[in-house]
Amino acid sequence: MTAILFLIFAFPSFGSIREEFERIGYVEICDQRPTIYDALYANFDQFIEFLQANPVWALKLYSAKERFIRSKEKNYYSTDVFGFYNESNRSQISFYYSTHFHEFISARYPELIQIPEITHFLEACLEIQNPCVSLFQKAATELDIDSLNLFTLLKIIKYLPTYTATKPHYDGSAFSLFLNSTDNSSLLLSPYKSTFTTDDFSSPIRNHSVLLIPGTLLREFSIYPTPHIVLQSGKIRYATIAFAMRANYAPPKVDLSPLPHFND
Ligand SMILES: [Fe+2]
Repeated sequence: MTAILFLIFAFPSFGSIREEFERIGYVEICDQRPTIYDALYANFDQFIEFLQANPVWALKLYSAKERFIRSKEKNYYSTDVFGFYNESNRSQISFYYSTHFHEFISARYPELIQIPEITHFLEACLEIQNPCVSLFQKAATELDIDSLNLFTLLKIIKYLPTYTATKPHYDGSAFSLFLNSTDNSSLLLSPYKSTFTTDDFSSPIRNHSVLLIPGTLLREFSIYPTPHIVLQSGKIRYATIAFAMRANYAPPKVDLSPLPHFND
């Protein structure tokens, strides 16, 4: 498994991950398969089109999600967020994928798996998420927190041209991995600080790389989350993010530094 991981993600000097989080907010990792995402986004568009044209199937997928979040497998992720979200009010369409949700659909809703638009998209998600599992494990080992029970939740997102953004946020994950986006320059981030202004946020220059950042679920290890924002671009933009979630974990309430408003 490790060999496969290194073929896909080539780590730089990974020993200093904690220092990199503190210094710049992220660790940049080379991605050896950047072209895989074109097919993923094409599959996602076909999936969206199919669900919009066939509300009965969209409803069936929704009931699969409702049943899944009552299963014990969902506790691996400590969230109820799975499946398809068409948030027209926020100008975003997204899908949250996990292998347990995929297996649940295959076992309980085989008729959904018969639909090419659904199954091709789920398989594309599976292929993308596989190497992330080992990457998160490797990061946890480097940080000496490998006792954590981490599970990977993948998010594919389509931002519509009307999407706007006003405020950065912290992710409710242990780690988030910005795998790919069709417009890297609209993602701004900042290392954690006690106070923030909009000038603290900038977009890392990337060349076929992925960015690993800490989320809010590692506070007990003195690892602070990296705030980030996706600015509006007026265009359609796709992105893929993997979240490392903590199994059976209810995060304690913690105060984090307030984040500034962006006014365009
Ligand atoms: Fe985020």
